[in-house]
Amino acid sequence: MTILVTGGAGFIGSNFVLDWFKSSDEPVVNLDALTYAGNLENLASLQGDARHVFVKGDICDRALIDHLLAEHQPRAIVHFAAESHVDRSIHGPGAFMRTNVEGTFTLLEAARAYWSALQGEAKSGFRFHHVSTDEVYGSLKPQDPPFAETHAYEPNSPYSASKAASDHLVRAWHHTYGLPVVTTNCSNNYGPYHFPEKLIPLMIVNALAGKPLPVYGDGQQIRDWLYVTDHCSGIRAVLAGGTLGETYNIGGWNEKANIDIVKTVCALLDELRPDPAGPYARLITYVTDRPGHDRRYAIDARKIERDLGWRPAETFETGIRKTVQWYLANEAWVANVQSGGYRDWVSQQYGA
Ligand SMILES: NC(=O)c1ccc[n+]([C@@H]2O[C@H](COP(=O)([O-])OP(=O)(O)OC[C@H]3O[C@@H](n4cnc5c(N)ncnc54)[C@H](O)[C@@H]3O)[C@@H](O)[C@H]2O)c1
Repeated sequence: MTILVTGGAGFIGSNFVLDWFKSSDEPVVNLDALTYAGNLENLASLQGDARHVFVKGDICDRALIDHLLAEHQPRAIVHFAAESHVDRSIHGPGAFMRTNVEGTFTLLEAARAYWSALQGEAKSGFRFHHVSTDEVYGSLKPQDPPFAETHAYEPNSPYSASKAASDHLVRAWHHTYGLPVVTTNCSNNYGPYHFPEKLIPLMIVNALAGKPLPVYGDGQQIRDWLYVTDHCSGIRAVLAGGTLGETYNIGGWNEKANIDIVKTVCALLDELRPDPAGPYARLITYVTDRPGHDRRYAIDARKIERDLGWRPAETFETGIRKTVQWYLANEAWVANVQSGGYRDWVSQQYGA
């Protein structure tokens, strides 16, 4: 038994792979193009571990995917690979259409050909698990109920539109071809190995460097936050027990305004690494809002709890403390990301 993971050198994918081996010896074939967001250093602890096969490659490369499926005969594909940063999607949407839409299409077609040729239990047990986001549902007003799985798709950014498109493809491949798919739509993740362009790690690394902490607009944008290993356990639950063709929302029941997230990070740093120059909150700087910035996301995660018994293990308070502690304990990882040195990490570790 083997699973094929795409995007397993990114933030959530690498956490998923590391977490997978804590409870399973089932091998993982990890296909990742190592864009700026892919960092093999996240998987350094798996060096020499025969359960983990890393393949540098593109999900748009049909021949490569056909080859990997034929060679490794996975029982499931867990699809994380994506362009994932909203700000980058505003400046350059093309890469998002290519990877998130064309890449998912390519993977679905390869999976369909592979699955069609399987027999018996290998065929009935096969799963294509598509990892998606709550951003496909658009923006909520303050009094609106949280997003349920039945909420209309109303994506507002090039990123969320490309993810919405990929969700629709996955749905259609199930409806039309019977491909055994499940989709999860998750809220904002945070935790170890998060690239410091996203809110929480950016605030931690900027604060430690004494740099301004940029907060968009009035800082009152609300997101639901989930500790990354809780996302991983939710994916494992849906992969194991989700109903084919269904979607499951995964969230942490933690609605927080961005400004409150930043203040929480500052308070934790004041406690754990006090700055002689004064409280870190002095560095908060309001900047011009992101165009089309969604106001509020919130997840109704009752379905995954009711059907599969999943609930997050971390509260926001425990998760954010662990996260800040991780960044304080892993300053070399941060320095390597910031210097671009992580790109040389593979050749440093493995030789040319
Ligand atoms: N980060 C979040 O808060 C969040 C929340 C919900 C859902 N998601 C979804 O989870 C998935 C993973 O998100 P993340 O935050 O880990 O993203 P990330 O940007 O940290 O990682 C993406 C990974 O995909 C790889 N990749 C990109 N293009 C590729 C291609 N063409 N072929 C192969 N690999 C490619 C990158 O190298 C990187 O390792 C995405 O699908 C994202 O939409 C993310």
